[in-house]
Amino acid sequence: MPKNKNVAVVGATGAVGLEMLKILKERQFPVKDIRLFASDRSKGKKLKFKGADIKVEDLSRSRFRGIDIALFSAGADRSFEFAPKFVRAKAVVIDNSSAFRMEKDVPLVVPEVNRHAIKRHRGIIANPNCSTIQMVVALNPIHKKYRIKRIVVNTYQSVSGAGLKAMAELTTQTKEIIRGRDITRNVFPHQVAFNCLPQVDTFLKNGYTKEEMKTMNETRKIMEDGSLKISATCVRVPVFRSHSESVNIETERKLTAGEARELLRKAPGVVVVDNPGKSLYPLAIYAAGRDEVFVGRIREDESVASGLNLWVVSDNLRKGSALNAVQIAEYLL
Ligand SMILES: NC(=O)c1ccc[n+]([C@@H]2O[C@H](COP(=O)([O-])OP(=O)(O)OC[C@H]3O[C@@H](n4cnc5c(N)ncnc54)[C@H](OP(=O)(O)O)[C@@H]3O)[C@@H](O)[C@H]2O)c1
Repeated sequence: MPKNKNVAVVGATGAVGLEMLKILKERQFPVKDIRLFASDRSKGKKLKFKGADIKVEDLSRSRFRGIDIALFSAGADRSFEFAPKFVRAKAVVIDNSSAFRMEKDVPLVVPEVNRHAIKRHRGIIANPNCSTIQMVVALNPIHKKYRIKRIVVNTYQSVSGAGLKAMAELTTQTKEIIRGRDITRNVFPHQVAFNCLPQVDTFLKNGYTKEEMKTMNETRKIMEDGSLKISATCVRVPVFRSHSESVNIETERKLTAGEARELLRKAPGVVVVDNPGKSLYPLAIYAAGRDEVFVGRIREDESVASGLNLWVVSDNLRKGSALNAVQIAEYLL
């Protein structure tokens, strides 16, 4: 491949796509030419990239020849239909949707954890679910040294995880409630403003939601340990940006809270914020717009022989999706 790449962003008008454009510019990704795709609703709309106005193309009516790297974030249906077409046109696709994540021959990559998997790709590399990414960045260093046997994770996920319309719904409902009006509801199954919804995505037969099963299955694939026991409960909260997670782990070898702090202070992509005496711990509002995974409230679980509790927070639109995808693209270079 030539050094400067022809890049495509598919789903460029969405919450993740817009963040991808920002990150490509911030990290000075060597872009020769950029093409932006979305639905026919956005055809002709102009988005800024490095000061230039780039016209959005209708994905379903375009040709894809000459593209080196395509960053997809337009939903699983679009990925199923169009990713193979991009690959046939010789592009490498980095896909943010759930379409190919659990396919055997598709690497599912978080560079801090398993970047070695990238080289096995056959045209498509999958970007994991946002709640999974931040958890594995925090847990992998502990797993490598002390072997985690079981994870119980409860998430507090921001509305931006469900896209731009979901963010608008939280704004609208908040205003409506403050003004004493009836709420408008289109995206979430219940009022999300001033509420917590124990449902992210749809329910499956086993009582878990799809989001919960993604977190469980993807974690085992990325950490390359099929024996890991994991149980997840995913909750949507009225926060605009950044997911928070309460994570409980049991390890094979005992580690103290102090040892965990030391290990995580040296871990790539992790920042430890853990000073309870000063009420310092990771917060969604401070993680928003940042690249790192923040970990705090690290304490030993008193109910088991070797267990820890952690509070893990990261920006779902950056490390949870767009940044992780661009990092994968950087490894492709
Ligand atoms: N948000 C997150 O934190 C996050 C994290 C990880 C993964 N993801 C995944 O990333 C994808 C996008 O999420 P998002 O949050 O950015 O959603 P979003 O804000 O709703 O944006 C959706 C994007 O997909 C495009 N799109 C929708 N239907 C299309 C069609 N028929 N043809 C072409 N483009 C179409 C939209 O274009 P129009 O503007 O023209 O409708 C828009 O650009 C999803 O697969 C999601 O699961 C999101």
